[in-house]
Amino acid sequence: MLASGAGTNLQALLDSGIEGIRVVISDVADAFAVRRATEASIPTEIVPFANNRSAFTEKICEAAAKYGAEALVLAGFMRVLGPAAIERFPHRILNIHPSLLPAFPGVNAVSQALSHGVTITGVTVHFVDEKIDHGPIIAQRAVPVLPGDDEESLHARIQKVEHDLYPRVVAAFLRGDVLVEQGKVVLR
Ligand code: GRF
Repeated sequence: MLASGAGTNLQALLDSGIEGIRVVISDVADAFAVRRATEASIPTEIVPFANNRSAFTEKICEAAAKYGAEALVLAGFMRVLGPAAIERFPHRILNIHPSLLPAFPGVNAVSQALSHGVTITGVTVHFVDEKIDHGPIIAQRAVPVLPGDDEESLHARIQKVEHDLYPRVVAAFLRGDVLVEQGKVVLR
């Protein structure tokens, strides 16, 4: 599992009882996600980013390999992995994004939704490919934008959905029920 921030999705995965989270890797030593992992007795690895994406990617892959990881689950991981990771884990890197992709990729998905005035946004879980917030879509859920919403209130509503959706998708993936055929996801 890769996380850079608060780690509420990590917590949701832990609370769901999913087995198989071998290590939590972070680029941010004091990320709350790291503390959550430690409290759950999950090993942690800190891999700081040092201005070289391919070296960083290599170190992330090495850290994952050390624990025998067979997939990478990203949740609030604020770095872009290089192509070496995608080659090493083909259709085995998952990410969760707080919009209905392909709308609003990037770091400020929630404020983009607000500034466009959409009335529906949502959550996307997808496989990671070479592009940012891109790759075969595994699952999506819509979330309404309500009058008076600000970034905080809308993100909170989105996160509630994330915390329900991500554990279900990761569990299905671990059971082998998420397949990719001709670039698209097929759920078994
Ligand atoms: C989530 O909203 C996720 O969609 C986005 O970053 C946020 C991470 O939240 N990629 P957390 O660290 O899991 O609380």
